[in-house]
Order: sequence, then structure tokens, then C-alpha cells
Amino acid sequence: MSKDIQLPFETLAWEGGVDGHVRMLEQTLLPAQEEQLIVDTVPGMVDAIYRLAVRGAPAIGVAAGFGMVLGIREAGPSDDILAVARRTKDTLDASRPTAVNLSWATHRILRHLEGLLSEGAGNLSHDELKQATLTEALEIYEGDRQTCAQMGLLGAELIHDGATLLTHCNAGALATAGMGTALAPIYTAHAQGKRVSVYADETRPLLQGARITAWELGRAGVDVTLITDSMAAHVMSEGKIDAVFVGSDRITRNGDVCNKIGTFSVALAARHHGIPFHVVAPLSTVDPALTSGKDIPIEQRPAEEVTEGFGKRTAPMGVKVYAPAFDVTPAELVTSIVTEVGVISSPSLESMEEALRLGGVSW
Ligand code: MRU
Repeated sequence: MSKDIQLPFETLAWEGGVDGHVRMLEQTLLPAQEEQLIVDTVPGMVDAIYRLAVRGAPAIGVAAGFGMVLGIREAGPSDDILAVARRTKDTLDASRPTAVNLSWATHRILRHLEGLLSEGAGNLSHDELKQATLTEALEIYEGDRQTCAQMGLLGAELIHDGATLLTHCNAGALATAGMGTALAPIYTAHAQGKRVSVYADETRPLLQGARITAWELGRAGVDVTLITDSMAAHVMSEGKIDAVFVGSDRITRNGDVCNKIGTFSVALAARHHGIPFHVVAPLSTVDPALTSGKDIPIEQRPAEEVTEGFGKRTAPMGVKVYAPAFDVTPAELVTSIVTEVGVISSPSLESMEEALRLGGVSW
């Protein structure tokens, strides 16, 4: 049984019954302020996801699951509850396009509702169907916590005592309902008594590495050193890095890995230096419908996030900006993908399909 390590903060949670709300740590204010945001409507959830108040693929999935509850509970006695659920799904799915966990979660809730209705559950009242939706959303939340803990245990085996690791963006507790994806093995190794140090890329343009990863590792008592993204290859060349650990927003069936912009450069630098490049992600991040990373929709963010991130203009007015939020690391640069069902070494179509089969995922 995997062990869930409690961290001294909570990313998000549902509070109350069906008429309750989501409480989340407002991540755009970190590290300066620790404020809680209450979300109790679908537009509020779309806004929170788009602004990155809640972010990171699994956390977005959990939030979207709760968002489905917020939408479905608005169905009136004469409304078609399934039609309301489908509309809510479409609205939530459009908030951010790249992390597949979002549509994975909304799909799961919709399927659950469809299943209940098709099982002759015409006997179930709207109130009972709404309660069943909340129960399913809470199962997604719990499942994510378990999955993180399991990936933590499996991934910790790749970390030796005294290891120094590099990570990009934030794939920690603040990106999930549990203890993270890429950071879960690090927290687990730390709890096992191994000495572990982490270099965190600051992650331009929204600085998830500086604002969030450095904050949460520090809070958890893990040794962390912040570097700018452009320093990563140099730090590797100095022999300081034993392995890279990153998360993912979408993995295609052939093992291509989409993650925060800059991850591909880190993988190239790691390959040049012979450093293992590990990806830690649950099966809910694998998109079985796609067989190449080239088919993943890459989110484009507003130019202002590059030219005046955090309120200060750092580029000439009117300059043209290109702002993709994610990139794709080809499978051949990936040493392993740590999932809840096992570690996939040198991922390929065959080994990915084997893992999907083990996890009961069909395509
Ligand atoms: O834009 P963000 O902050 O949502 O991007 C997050 C990442 O790219 C993470 O590395 C990824 O979601 C893996 S999460 C555990």
C-alpha cells in the first residue's frame, strides 16, 4: 500500500455537500501571499483554471471534476440533466486545451451520469443524481492522491542517497490533489531518509519553478536551489545533476511527452550529458487517442505574460510575441515514464500500450 505524505498546505478541496464549494490555494499570488479562493460556479472555475489559480495537469483534472458538480447541480426539476452535464463539460474543456486530465475528468463524470441514467435509473431523483456526481468527483480527488503516492514509491527507487536532481515548472503537490507527480518520488525519497537536493528551473514566463516549486520544496524541508532556465545545461555540464524529473500535461500513445515550455530543451541537454530524463505522470495524463506528440494542441498564452509578467514591462511596446505554453519531448529522449501501474523504460508504442492495458484503459 502506498503511503500518502502530508504536506503543510492543501492545493484544493471540496467543502460541504452538493451545495458546497471548492476551496483552493490561489496560486497566482504565491509565494508572497497564501490566500484561499472559493469557487462555487462554472464560470468561476473556468476563470480559476485559465488564470492558473489552479494549475498542473492532475489538479486541473480534479478541479474540472468539481466544476462538473457545480454545473450539474444547477439543473432544475424540468431540465434534461444530461444536456446540462454536456454543456458544462464543453465549457470546462475549453478553459485550457493541452492538459488532457481536464477532459479526462469531465468525460469520467459525464460517463458516470450516462451510466446511471441508462441503467434504468429513471427511478433516481435529480438530487440523487447530483449527489452521485459529487461522489464521483470526490473519487477522482481521492484517486489522484493515491496515484501520486504510488508514483512516489515507484519513482523513489530511481533516486539514490545523495542525489541531486533537476526539475522544470511545477509538478509537485500544487499541481495535484496529492503530493505531486515529478516531486512525489523526491518527497518519498526524502521521507525514506535519503539525502536529496533539487535544482529548480525558474520556468519563464510565469515562473512556476521560482514561485511554486521553490516554495513548496522549501516548505517540505527539501534542499532546493533556484536557477534560471538558461542555466540548466551549464549546471549539467558542471556534473551537478544526477537525473531530471519532470511531470507532463499529455503523453501520446507512442511515449511523446508534452510538458511546460522549456522541457524539450532540458531533455536535449540531459541527453547530451548522459543524464537520465524521467517523466512522472498518471495514466490519466496519457491520451490513448493520439499516436504522436505532433497532434497535441499547444496552448497559446497572452503576449502580456511575456512582455509584462507580474506588472513590469520588460519589452518594447508593440513588439511581436510568440507564447506557446508547452512543448513536446520526443519519446527517444525519455529514459522512463513512471506511472501508477509501473515504470515504463524507453517508452515506445508497445510499452505504452502494455501500461494502458495494465491500467484498464482502452482506446
Ligand atoms: O501552465 P501550468 O502551470 O499548468 O503547467 C504545468 C506543467 O507544465 C506541469 O509540469 C505539468 O502539468 C505536470 S503536473 C504534475
